Amino acid sequence: MKTELLITGISQLATAEGASAKHGRSMSELKVVQDAALAISGGSIDWVGARSDWTGEAVATLDLGGAAVLPGLIDPHTHAVWAGDRLADFEARVAGATYEQILLAGGGIRSTVRATAAASIEELVALARPRVEALLRSGATTIEVKSGYGFAISAEIAMLDSIATLAAESQARIIATLLIHLPPVESGERSRYVEQVCAELIPEVARRGLASAVDVFVEREAWHVAEAEQMFVCAKNHGLAVKLHSDQFHSIGGVELGVRMGALSVDHLEAAGAAQIEAIAASATVATILPGVSLHLGIPAAPGRRLIDVGAAVAVGTDLNPGSSPLYSSAGALGLAVRMNGLRAQEAIVAGTVNAACALGLSDRGRLEAGCVADFVVLQTKDWRELVYVMGANPVREVWVGGRRVGG
Ligand code: NIG
Ligand code: FE
Repeated sequence: MKTELLITGISQLATAEGASAKHGRSMSELKVVQDAALAISGGSIDWVGARSDWTGEAVATLDLGGAAVLPGLIDPHTHAVWAGDRLADFEARVAGATYEQILLAGGGIRSTVRATAAASIEELVALARPRVEALLRSGATTIEVKSGYGFAISAEIAMLDSIATLAAESQARIIATLLIHLPPVESGERSRYVEQVCAELIPEVARRGLASAVDVFVEREAWHVAEAEQMFVCAKNHGLAVKLHSDQFHSIGGVELGVRMGALSVDHLEAAGAAQIEAIAASATVATILPGVSLHLGIPAAPGRRLIDVGAAVAVGTDLNPGSSPLYSSAGALGLAVRMNGLRAQEAIVAGTVNAACALGLSDRGRLEAGCVADFVVLQTKDWRELVYVMGANPVREVWVGGRRVGG
């Protein structure tokens, strides 16, 4: 059988190997093939190796002229659908107010909820489209998008319907997550809301296939462990995976809950201490770090280096959202993880590819190996390390999804 397309002129092909999440030291095992070739048929990879080892036949060939190729990036954590803006918050924060103070005063996430709940599905899709395109151009071929700015059950469903519309039209592969973001302001209403989430929202999301996972923001000013646990038990009973926003400002037991519940990932971790780091490292849960948040909010960087040193599987995402991380580049997030979280370049690539795929429960991507989807990026330059080095310009020349060039 002839392969459909043989791509040559690959100065370096850099990829992790094997579908499982890479923990600790194995995060630095990035395979780099010099003068490589990539064979593709039917949207999947047939063969990868040194050009000189290729013995097959191809219907067509394409010479990239000497550029580095990496797996398409996986952005495992975004809030790309929102309405309104948070420019007033940004001004207030620059003048000294904290993110938590603004939230407690009814602004922050709550102001985005007001704007988002008031927007139509068409408006939400139109607002999100260029954000997803920016992430795609920066190298992300799979992009997770969360709901969470709806609050009312019908508004959360509308957000997920917007994400489904985006998924149908986008050239990127979109993965939807149901985020249960903030509780009602009145404390007496919290348990009623949790019951509604469990009796109405999660069952409808599962029945209509609107999301593959349920995420809960566990924090002093958000959901507490017992409430999150109730929603996770319901999610699992409906066949949905679970994940958390946890230990962003305070460590209140979210990591321990996530590990206990077999969460796909615990995300943020800026406030995680030694016990939390050890707990994640001893588990199969991926630690997803979000350096854009630390940069934008001026909070401590998540302990990426320590997590890897004690054996955790770390992933990196943009957390693209208007309040804590207006970061429109998945490649940029990896560069920040090197500079702010102490990841080596090899580790950052693994974090943004195979480990990020595992944070979404996906095993067919995030690496360039036979049988995987043919999602990859071609850099502007010959050296794969440029992906995490360049700041403020796009290191990505071409983006390919399912064996077709889609952007860049
Ligand atoms: O990942 N911390 C909670 N949620 C989001 C921020 C959302 C927002 O500020 O609008 C986060 O940081
Ligand atoms: Fe987030």
